Amino acid sequence: MPNGERVLRFRPWITEDDAKVVVDALMSGNLVSPYGKYGKLLEGELAKYLNVKYALAVSSGTTALHLALKAIGVGPGDEVIVPAFTFLATASSVLHSNAVPVFADISLETLGLDPASVEGKITDRTKAIIVVHLAGMPAEMDGLIKVAREHNLYLIEDTAQALGAIYRGVKVGALGDLGTFSFYPTKTITSSEGGAVSTNSDELASRVRLLRSHGETGKYYYEELGYNYRMGELQAALGYSQLLRIEEIIRRKEAFARVLTEELSSLDNDLLILPKPKPYVRHAWHIYQILLTDRVGKPRDRVAEELRARGLEAVTVAYPIPLYETPLFTKMIGHGKGCPWSCPFYGRKIEYKPLPNTEEATRRVLGILVSPHFTEDDASYAAKIIKETLTKQ
Ligand SMILES: Cc1ncc(COP(=O)(O)O)c(C=O)c1O
Repeated sequence: MPNGERVLRFRPWITEDDAKVVVDALMSGNLVSPYGKYGKLLEGELAKYLNVKYALAVSSGTTALHLALKAIGVGPGDEVIVPAFTFLATASSVLHSNAVPVFADISLETLGLDPASVEGKITDRTKAIIVVHLAGMPAEMDGLIKVAREHNLYLIEDTAQALGAIYRGVKVGALGDLGTFSFYPTKTITSSEGGAVSTNSDELASRVRLLRSHGETGKYYYEELGYNYRMGELQAALGYSQLLRIEEIIRRKEAFARVLTEELSSLDNDLLILPKPKPYVRHAWHIYQILLTDRVGKPRDRVAEELRARGLEAVTVAYPIPLYETPLFTKMIGHGKGCPWSCPFYGRKIEYKPLPNTEEATRRVLGILVSPHFTEDDASYAAKIIKETLTKQ
């Protein structure tokens, strides 16, 4: 039992209505999505919510990224610019396309890609940029859209952590050529496992549709190499039911974040740096990310441990290490030693120089995974133990 007054643990918000809809899907006898009733409902509702022409349900946020890259034709020899301060799938989807992930630095304000760093990484092999709206905070899209346009590159928005976030009046995921989403249980809405791809392009939408289901154009007639990346009907039913109350989910998270910001503001720019969404964005508060400063006289991981011991189990360190320093990438860098047979690095010397803001973020970041169950009172409690933990040695 933690030595605190309460336990704050992330739990998704599942209601009786969700359960009814899932049972309805189960008993319908049509369990194959996205062609069943709920697959279609989810796709229609999501497209409406994002204000895009197409939203296509898929099996996960990871497969959504892979499909987005395949849809734009990324393949061997291509380079795709990605952050290293993100979940693996942003970069592994590039490897799965036999292309090279090229890591660019982030801005410490948004923890999303920095347009100037992205521009410096562009070569004549660059095909696309994947921007991540990290923790629910929209990345600085004006600069990234400009760089993508000027260099004629595709822009994919990895919106796994930010469904519902808004940038200058537009939902994130609807600003680039393609948006990808995850409905994993910790995300804004969940379908258990699941994801989606959004786009306004007829051509890209039909490529995603084709590739998510074996490249099949007629019964047992295969046009090209595709995948089974379809979402199941039970997942679609849960995702649809959750999507109907997404604004209430975000309101709850906003209330928690607002109180936390108010109550921690006395420590801002001293012991920690609080998240500061710009006036023209709406943060989706997947994770409430703070950066600890050097004035905290103990290591970040000790702070995290102490907070967990006092019941703040929703504490998360996302991410403690840049992707390019994990063995998957260090093994491949250089001459491809240790690469799988399809290693895109083979025969090419790719060097990853440390990215200063990425390294700094991995050292300082500390987050709270915001559950829709958390109340404003929980936020006060979280603020109290954060203050105590940071001020007491
Ligand atoms: C930024 C980012 N991209 C992609 C994914 C992959 O999503 P999924 O777990 O649904 O495959 C995640 C999941 O955590 C993520 O955080």
